[in-house]
Amino acid sequence: MKATDCIVGRRSIRKFKNDKISHSLLESIVSTASFSPSWKNTQITRYIAIEDTSIIKKIADDFTPEFNANIIRQVSTLIAVTFVKGRCGFERNGSFSTKKGDRWQMFDVGVACQTFCLAAHEAGLGTVIMGIWDEDGITELLDIPETQELAALIAIGYPDISPDAPKRKSVEDLLTYR
Ligand SMILES: Cc1cc2nc3c(=O)[nH]c(=O)nc-3n(C[C@H](O)[C@H](O)[C@H](O)COP(=O)(O)O)c2cc1C
Repeated sequence: MKATDCIVGRRSIRKFKNDKISHSLLESIVSTASFSPSWKNTQITRYIAIEDTSIIKKIADDFTPEFNANIIRQVSTLIAVTFVKGRCGFERNGSFSTKKGDRWQMFDVGVACQTFCLAAHEAGLGTVIMGIWDEDGITELLDIPETQELAALIAIGYPDISPDAPKRKSVEDLLTYR
């Protein structure tokens, strides 16, 4: 698949088939995502693959709004994306490297999530990144260590729908020259 086709053809998928994803396929996707660029190559992004149906159900029932819960209930694998705190955007003495403070952390996770979703798309899988959920509840449920922070959930599975792309802004809107 050409990179452009992969980027343009990827969609957020909110309807999935029942089929499970093999560990080897998931591991190949994470391996591809590991080639994402990161702040000083700090590679802070981590992936927790949740396969336990009782945990997936609890996240859907107790810790997400209904529109996301309806997606989560369909998947056999839910990815919790975390990052290791205090490295990306920080100096060795713990001070911020730039005026953006700790925001480079989420920047790096975003880059990695996009790479993950593109790798999944190339492999025939669908994904949707979800940002609305109860952070404290899921952090405790998954026993995420103090050294990490939950950044995003990604539902992943075999797509049961092929949605059109939501409208994009024009290049004129997006690009300016100086
Ligand atoms: C940071 C982030 C958070 C998002 N949160 C949600 C979410 O909570 N629920 C959801 O259904 N989609 C969520 N999305 C998916 C967007 O709605 C989607 O990417 C956008 O509508 C464009 O559609 P496309 O991904 O098919 O191109 C999120 C996307 C991003 C990047």
